[in-house]
Amino acid sequence: MCFGHKSPHAVARLRVASRLRLQILAEAKPRDAALILISDDRIPHDNQIPQSLAHCYPQKLMYILYVNWQVSSDAEQERRRQSHFAGGAMDLSNKVAIITGAARGIGLSLASRFCRVGARVVLADLHEGDLSEAIESIRRDIPNAQCFAATVDVASRVSVEAMVKKAIELCGRIDILVNNAGVWKSLTTGPFWQLSTDEWRHTFAVNTEGAFNCASAVAPHLIAQKSGRIIFIGSAAIGEALAHITQYTASKSALTGLMRCAAKELGKDGITVNMVNPGQIDTGAFTREQLELRAQSKFIKRVGMPADLEGIVTLLASEEGGFITAQQIYVDGGGVLN
Ligand SMILES: NC(=O)c1ccc[n+]([C@@H]2O[C@H](COP(=O)([O-])OP(=O)(O)OC[C@H]3O[C@@H](n4cnc5c(N)ncnc54)[C@H](O)[C@@H]3O)[C@@H](O)[C@H]2O)c1
Repeated sequence: MCFGHKSPHAVARLRVASRLRLQILAEAKPRDAALILISDDRIPHDNQIPQSLAHCYPQKLMYILYVNWQVSSDAEQERRRQSHFAGGAMDLSNKVAIITGAARGIGLSLASRFCRVGARVVLADLHEGDLSEAIESIRRDIPNAQCFAATVDVASRVSVEAMVKKAIELCGRIDILVNNAGVWKSLTTGPFWQLSTDEWRHTFAVNTEGAFNCASAVAPHLIAQKSGRIIFIGSAAIGEALAHITQYTASKSALTGLMRCAAKELGKDGITVNMVNPGQIDTGAFTREQLELRAQSKFIKRVGMPADLEGIVTLLASEEGGFITAQQIYVDGGGVLN
């Protein structure tokens, strides 16, 4: 019996295997087999390991059991330790993430990064067409990416519940939620007393209630598995008291309260909740000149790009981020002093 992918020649001790709760999805009949590879079903089935094993042991028959396993806490600790020593920092292998608003901009950038570091990612967004293009672009860049599309209106609780159900059907579990969907490009600017109530409500329905809906729908799953990550994408507008778009600033400010209370309520179940507040990031709403001009008021005098969010969000989503919770982190090139 050969155990695991990272060291295919290692002989597994059965006692280790017996600690695993195995749900065998596709079972071979190993009557004549001399070699059985137990493979995690989250690893692509066209992985090179079986071929290389067959090459090493040409005289043996080989069977592969694709299994879906939940590792005991001992084994999980060991996996983390190994991944750490192997330099696998910020590795999201075997994690399942939902990222809302992932059809473009910051959400799409985060989705590709998560795929690159091994997560299975459900890209959720309002627009089905944009989602298909997003999935295609990720698969073009990262051939073994495991990404899926889910159309959702985060402002609707029913729609969000359906998104979570779909994610569970597709991936079996949820480990990470990135609440990124938001409206800002279409909002009117001007003094707050001239804002329409409809626009105020719509902004809160998507930016605040949307994040609340998603966190509420995912939380029971994270609590049941006693682990998980929730990351809110807020805005540096909070720390700047960005005026003349008060509906937006207020809707994102409310997320700070939600994030902190959720972190407090979920901490005992090993779940971290944090918020990342981007400054101005180029996602197509401003001209290059406008962005360059604004960048001059920051400590770091360059335009922020979606990729600038990837490092901190991946860290917060990873095992390495496990002791960081209830924090909001500004990624704005030095503007808001937190
Ligand atoms: N780009 C910036 O300068 C900046 C700065 C601070 C904060 N942010 C925040 O970062 C997040 C992403 O910003 P972006 O610039 O990539 O925006 P974007 O407009 O490019 O993308 C937002 C995505 O959210 C989706 N979305 C909107 N409403 C939705 C709904 N009801 N349900 C599901 N999906 C919905 C859109 O379809 C879109 O794909 C937003 O929450 C935004 O407020 C952005």
